[in-house]
Amino acid sequence: MSMNHNQEIRLASRPVGMPTRENFAFVDVDLPVANDGQVLLKTMYISVDPYMRGRMNDVKSYVPPFQLDHVMDGDVIAEVVESRHSEYATGDIVAGHLPWRLYGVSDGHGLRKLNPAQGPVTAALSVLGITGITAYFGLFDIGQPKPGETVVVSGAAGAVGTVVGQIAKLCGCRVVGIAGSDEKTSYLTDELGFDGAINYHTQNVGLALKEVCPQGVDVYFDNVGGEVTDAVLMRINDGARIAMCGQIALYNATKAEMGPRLLAQLVVHRALMKGFIVSDYAPRFSEAIKRLATWVANGNIKYRESVIEGFNRVPEAFLGLFRGDNIGKQLVKVAQSE
Ligand SMILES: NC(=O)c1ccc[n+]([C@@H]2O[C@H](COP(=O)([O-])OP(=O)(O)OC[C@H]3O[C@@H](n4cnc5c(N)ncnc54)[C@H](OP(=O)(O)O)[C@@H]3O)[C@@H](O)[C@H]2O)c1
Repeated sequence: MSMNHNQEIRLASRPVGMPTRENFAFVDVDLPVANDGQVLLKTMYISVDPYMRGRMNDVKSYVPPFQLDHVMDGDVIAEVVESRHSEYATGDIVAGHLPWRLYGVSDGHGLRKLNPAQGPVTAALSVLGITGITAYFGLFDIGQPKPGETVVVSGAAGAVGTVVGQIAKLCGCRVVGIAGSDEKTSYLTDELGFDGAINYHTQNVGLALKEVCPQGVDVYFDNVGGEVTDAVLMRINDGARIAMCGQIALYNATKAEMGPRLLAQLVVHRALMKGFIVSDYAPRFSEAIKRLATWVANGNIKYRESVIEGFNRVPEAFLGLFRGDNIGKQLVKVAQSE
């Protein structure tokens, strides 16, 4: 990547169903100039996330939709390559919500400086970033796990799911993960210490749950929705708590699913089901990051990142989320630091 070449990724068209490479356009743009009070940023890592699928639709939600023919954005790690800002120096590594551009300028608003001496900076987009924080608040605030209880997590081998399961283990719970391949289920049980794992592509989830959760399910952390969630709801205990984090199984649906069908289960079992959006916890993010960082430093929480290299492969990395290509957090490495 040479300093005289700049490029950005725009939303070329809105997908119907599963997105394709054609929904993204790579457009050459001028190299920006940092004015007084600004920094010139070189993008190093880009986070691709399932919620971005919702932003590709023209519907209002908790984040505004991407605009057609406009640059897309998300969580990014960048290096300051030129600074005309008093609080930043050349060589600083920062994280922020930034446009998908090779080079951009910023006035520093919303940027967070990272310290490479404290560990890999990519953790700011994974275990110590939004997905780790999502796991933390969804599990503690809604799941309220107690020692000896059974916690089930769907999307278990992904960025949020891997952290949820490990925190639940630290709380003294029996933890079972549901994921989409044998490689993933082995990773959960052999490397992350889950008590059980179910491959929803090859196993009957309902029957498998009966076997691996003989005491029923006290906490369900739902990342996927659909039939996996139907099966878990049939196994909940009285007083169960269900944290509704995401419904990725439905993000590419072209018509509304029938349902809810199994909510009588909530009545019978006096269960709580509650959705949440992590940004609502922004005032408490530092609490989560501090505890997660301690667990990571002590080896109590392990994390993995699936890293694809190349700015031109951002669409591919994003589409892979819906095929289950990733284990842990999916990132794109765009450039090295200088
Ligand atoms: N509420 C919030 O504030 C918040 C914040 C962050 C994330 N989220 C949500 O949390 C969930 C996980 O996000 P993440 O960033 O950690 O992503 P992720 O789990 O790392 O990646 C997505 C995973 O979803 C699974 N998946 C894809 N299609 C599926 C389907 N049809 N049925 C079942 N599983 C499917 C795939 O794994 P398999 O191989 O197992 O299928 C894939 O690896 C998403 O629903 C996301 O929208 C919510």
